[in-house]
Amino acid sequence: MQFPDDFVWGAATAAYQIEGAVTEDGRGTSIWDTFSHTPGKTLNGDTGDIACDHYHRWRDDIGLLKALNVNAYRFSIAWSRILPVGRGKPNPAGIDFYSRLVDGLLEAGITPFATLYHWDLPQAIQDDDGWMRRTIADDFAHYADVISRALGDRVRHWITLNEPWVIAWAGHMFGEHAPGHRASSPAAALTVSHNLNLAHGSAVAVLRQNLPGAKIGTVLNLNPAYPATNKSADMEAATRFDGFWNRWYLDPIFRGHYPADMTEQYAEFLPEIRPGDLDRARVPLDFLGINYYSRAVIQDDADNAGLGYAMVSPEGEYTDMRWEVYPQGLFDLLMRVHRDYAPREIYITENGSAWVDTLTETGEVHDERRTAYLASHLEACSRAIADGVPLKGYFAWSLLDNFEWAFGYSKRFGLYYVDFANQQRYLKDSGKYFARIAGR
Ligand code: FCB
Repeated sequence: MQFPDDFVWGAATAAYQIEGAVTEDGRGTSIWDTFSHTPGKTLNGDTGDIACDHYHRWRDDIGLLKALNVNAYRFSIAWSRILPVGRGKPNPAGIDFYSRLVDGLLEAGITPFATLYHWDLPQAIQDDDGWMRRTIADDFAHYADVISRALGDRVRHWITLNEPWVIAWAGHMFGEHAPGHRASSPAAALTVSHNLNLAHGSAVAVLRQNLPGAKIGTVLNLNPAYPATNKSADMEAATRFDGFWNRWYLDPIFRGHYPADMTEQYAEFLPEIRPGDLDRARVPLDFLGINYYSRAVIQDDADNAGLGYAMVSPEGEYTDMRWEVYPQGLFDLLMRVHRDYAPREIYITENGSAWVDTLTETGEVHDERRTAYLASHLEACSRAIADGVPLKGYFAWSLLDNFEWAFGYSKRFGLYYVDFANQQRYLKDSGKYFARIAGR
């Protein structure tokens, strides 16, 4: 495997998944507090109340990053620590936490990549219709303004949103994520998607103004679609799935419009799209962040309401999330995004796998399958770079085992094993492998 000398090697986390300390130093409630405390929403009723206790252990956790030999760290900022009710007056204690973290990272020679929104909307904003309200874009821009003024002298890499697809569909149609809306029509998810585009555009404008020279991007979860057979019905179904999952998010930010085949599919459910909206969303970006975990194999299914497709599970290896291990999908995806959208730079902002881990008596975790997953996906990255993709870095998901949303603590993605009974961290074999590659 070949990587350029200036390749960015990183690990990623998100605030609600690791921080804990949910009532400390003036943090306001977020929709994930509300959701995880609602019976039946998360496995075993798990919550992020304590999580990895990173809010208190951040210094040690920087030490963990150093031991991984990474030169970058992607974390997210909890909006409700900065603005406890989402808008109005900032909370200095909340800002201080991230300020100290950033100083510590820089001292350790680790470049911070800050994500503004990784799903923990302030509850007060939710009470005012959350992502369903068009003017949430102004609130998001205000938050971006406050935090970029506070950290922008030291944080030079910014990400607006993590995975708008998940925010829209898991949160506002399937009900699996906060705020837990279930709907039988896609109208709400499409409204949310549109408002996320507006919020993204407004935040980029603010960041550009406040931070000349900073690198600004966004993060999409892309899922390459493969037809189950070469029958035209299956190929068309795969195209619809691709429109639903990938193009609905790529086209507005890179081309300034929604894909025409999909606006036709969604015709009766579309939100109001005002003139100029998608010009606002299509702002030049310095990079696109891609989160890649698996692929989708799609067949036509006329009985299936909505887009008329079904996902099939081919023979193969599946992770503890029941996601197929398919590194070729990462290569194909990188080539395709480069060809069709040509982002200036690309980062893999998340990639990793969950497996059932066992901690030995001597404090080791022999997670061969996670190591193999990492190796095969890094190999796909290296091939894409050789073929001309401007891939500038790779962030492993995740630094630590953590609160995996609706799955609670049952799914372990970390390069470090966390014993949640006592918060001890142990470097897994996959982490040792990653440290060797990152440290070369
Ligand atoms: C992504 C999320 C991340 C983590 C991984 C497994 O969708 O961005 O927080 O949960 O999946």
